[in-house]
Amino acid sequence: MKSILLSAFLLPLALSSVVPRAEEKIDYHGFKILRVNVPKGAKDVESKIQELSAHILNPGKSALVDVVVSPENLKALEALSLESTVLTEDVGAVLDEEGPISTYAGFATWFTAYHSYADHIQFLRDLQGGYTSQSEVITIGNSVQGRALTGIHIWGSGGKGSKPAVLFHGTVHAREWISTMTTEYLAYQLLTKYASDTTVKALVDKFDFYIIPIVNPDGFVYTQTTDRLWRKNRQTVSTSTCVGRDNNRNWPYKWEVTGGASTNPCSETFKGLAASDAPENRAMVSHVNSLRDGRGLRLYLDIHSYGQYILWPYGYTCSGVVENDAQHRSIASRAAAAIRAISGTAYTIGPACSTLYATTGDSTDYTDAVGNATYSYTYELRDRGTYGFSLPASQIQPTVVETWAGVLSMLKDL
Ligand code: ARG
Ligand code: ZN
Repeated sequence: MKSILLSAFLLPLALSSVVPRAEEKIDYHGFKILRVNVPKGAKDVESKIQELSAHILNPGKSALVDVVVSPENLKALEALSLESTVLTEDVGAVLDEEGPISTYAGFATWFTAYHSYADHIQFLRDLQGGYTSQSEVITIGNSVQGRALTGIHIWGSGGKGSKPAVLFHGTVHAREWISTMTTEYLAYQLLTKYASDTTVKALVDKFDFYIIPIVNPDGFVYTQTTDRLWRKNRQTVSTSTCVGRDNNRNWPYKWEVTGGASTNPCSETFKGLAASDAPENRAMVSHVNSLRDGRGLRLYLDIHSYGQYILWPYGYTCSGVVENDAQHRSIASRAAAAIRAISGTAYTIGPACSTLYATTGDSTDYTDAVGNATYSYTYELRDRGTYGFSLPASQIQPTVVETWAGVLSMLKDL
């Protein structure tokens, strides 16, 4: 338990650096990223670190925690006398390399820069508009702030809704911008290659694709207006002044299991007050259930960044394996090889908990166990930490192209 005195002292310090006045954008110039070695089981130290950091970049890792620290809080963090190394001297300088949000200028330049939320929705509409007989824009529900969770449904010669489903989710974590670009590229390839590429045609004729590039629109918008490193949704919590639930800890399967999510509303991995108490989560759950109850769910991909991993269930336990673990592994291993063949980018593959860390109430455990998906994977895209969530715009094209190769390999293996 942390002492009341201590948190009363530390909290105002931490909040002053994290919560901007009005909707002013946080300036990360002068902030550092430290990799802190947290002693095992030191719960009080963990909560102090959390209070002193603007963000934790790898929440879930218990030993080596990468934290973003403001200039004001650096001394207090150093006073904890933990072993640490500086990963980034100036977060603002790294964010500058990402490049500006560019204005929409058509498909030709779309994958060369990052875009606004409104432009992402327009991109989907324009893409769909070119293929009206084999696609439609879908909405599966609304976010906390009332934004429609918008995606695209793509089908082939069998007609709409006639085949087993393949479902891709992007940007559940607001700061993972490369995930938005990548899921859009997957939709773009499936539609634009259908007429000319027999492999793509065969796949689109075999499956109904449901692609939702931004399942956390409120968080995504917040990363552009206010805090580039925001992760969760923007839902308030009755018991706290902190905001946001982690929609990848809110799914109603093994939600109650401890150790893979936080019950603290201020944490990056706050699981919510009850399973599925985030509206985005309820929308995703009912969509997954309806695909299950329709033609069935063949493949589910949850696209995140960063770290270069392909992971499959379980997240909630490091001891159990899914019944088709061996098939998950061989499909992932071939996808990783396909990615490596394009660009040399190396992926690590394995069951999620034992390969990365434990997560309860996560998407792939739900789609596997409740959604009856034949295969469920989490992708963690580039990079391995050099730029982290703010991958320079020059890496968008290479990342989406190599990931398409990995996903294509998976689809061919189904
Ligand atoms: N990094 C993502 C998250 O924290 C995905 C985790 C995948 N699951 C896992 N058990 N490692 O939500
Ligand atoms: Zn993520």
